[in-house]
Amino acid sequence: MSVPRANTLYQYYQGEAISPTFADLRDESSLAAYQTSREALLGGRLAIPIALIRGAEILEIGPDTGENAVVFARWGGRMTLVEPNEAAHATIRTYFDTYAPAGALRSIQCANVLDYTVERRFDLVVAEGFIYTVQPSKLWLKRLLHTLVPGGLALISYYERRASLFELLLRRPFAALRRFTGEDRFTTAKRLYRTKWDRIGHTRSFESWTMDVLDNPFVRLRYFIGAERLVQDMADVGIYSSWPAYRDGLENVWGKKKIDSSRALERTLTHLRRSSATFVLGSKAYLVDESEGDRIAALVDLALADTDALIDEDDAARSVRLAANLRNLAERIRRADTIADVHAIYEGAALLEAWADLSELLAGRKFDAVISRLNSDPVLLDGWGNPGHLAVLQTAAYGIEARRPE
Ligand SMILES: C[S@@+](CC[C@H](N)C(=O)[O-])C[C@H]1O[C@@H](n2cnc3c(N)ncnc32)[C@H](O)[C@@H]1O
Repeated sequence: MSVPRANTLYQYYQGEAISPTFADLRDESSLAAYQTSREALLGGRLAIPIALIRGAEILEIGPDTGENAVVFARWGGRMTLVEPNEAAHATIRTYFDTYAPAGALRSIQCANVLDYTVERRFDLVVAEGFIYTVQPSKLWLKRLLHTLVPGGLALISYYERRASLFELLLRRPFAALRRFTGEDRFTTAKRLYRTKWDRIGHTRSFESWTMDVLDNPFVRLRYFIGAERLVQDMADVGIYSSWPAYRDGLENVWGKKKIDSSRALERTLTHLRRSSATFVLGSKAYLVDESEGDRIAALVDLALADTDALIDEDDAARSVRLAANLRNLAERIRRADTIADVHAIYEGAALLEAWADLSELLAGRKFDAVISRLNSDPVLLDGWGNPGHLAVLQTAAYGIEARRPE
């Protein structure tokens, strides 16, 4: 496995002319649309009450150009920002001057998630889009939890290991074609994925995505975190919410029943094992038999390892093995007993098989056929999976004191 050219994700960004997430919000209406989508994610899927953001002290680490931060400010949050890439600071300030209430930005600090300093504790700490690159997870977890008030929330997003199979597969033709032609990354990315990209709406540019996903040395297997590993690392902390669901939402006991924490963890881990097909496909395919979850996870792990190795180096035999493995996986998921959205199993299995076909074409270096298939097959054009998982952690609320109105 190749070693990243930069030691940290932000050093990689510092060497780039493009920002990873800049959404170029030029007027009130584009900001309002952005804000609505954040409300659907945070207020809806993650159940963070938006009304409680008013007056809340919020620390956001890694805001990049600050689109999310300015939305928190418009909901009434008081923002303290830590962004190690200084090139982003001017855009953050412009966004706040243009769109946020006066005084909403307390400070911007140029520091890493492991070495920032703050003088207060926060109701909400946000670290989206980078935390998986700082390992082991316990390092950042400890830091984030220390800066929270009792009962405070920490919102993180990360590349979930098995959910990232399709994301990693996308990198493989990109790497192989560049090796073959020596073209620059944007030319190759456009030939392979521009048609796919244009089929859905995005807030960032195609060039940002190319830099941040296809060519990013940190979007690799060694940085992906298994949800099971993460909940074990977080065993002392509560999961307030997550997307997709990590807690068994179908559990039914007396509401006042005392919860034994090791039993609760066990239940969550079982739920995650039964979610392995859901995670890979990025749509609901909940397994009835949890041991089937382990078999599916083992096949995904093999596919991840082969795909990761093929990003670095062409190897026809490995490529053929990957194709066979992806077909196996498709068949296994198709045959498993699941509680599923009807389309999920068929579309997901078809996508795995389409990637198996591509892997066979790549084994024979049939690049014209690969490009043509990626630009015309609706299964490949519309299949993205869901690699980015979000989790909201919560510290224990004991010892909490009433906040005095200011
Ligand atoms: C992909 S961007 C995400 C931006 C924004 N949070 C979002 O989710 O849209 C990642 C951001 O995290 C910052 N970052 C990367 N590594 C970091 C680290 N170790 N500590 C703090 N911030 C980091 C980068 O500079 C960049 O601004």
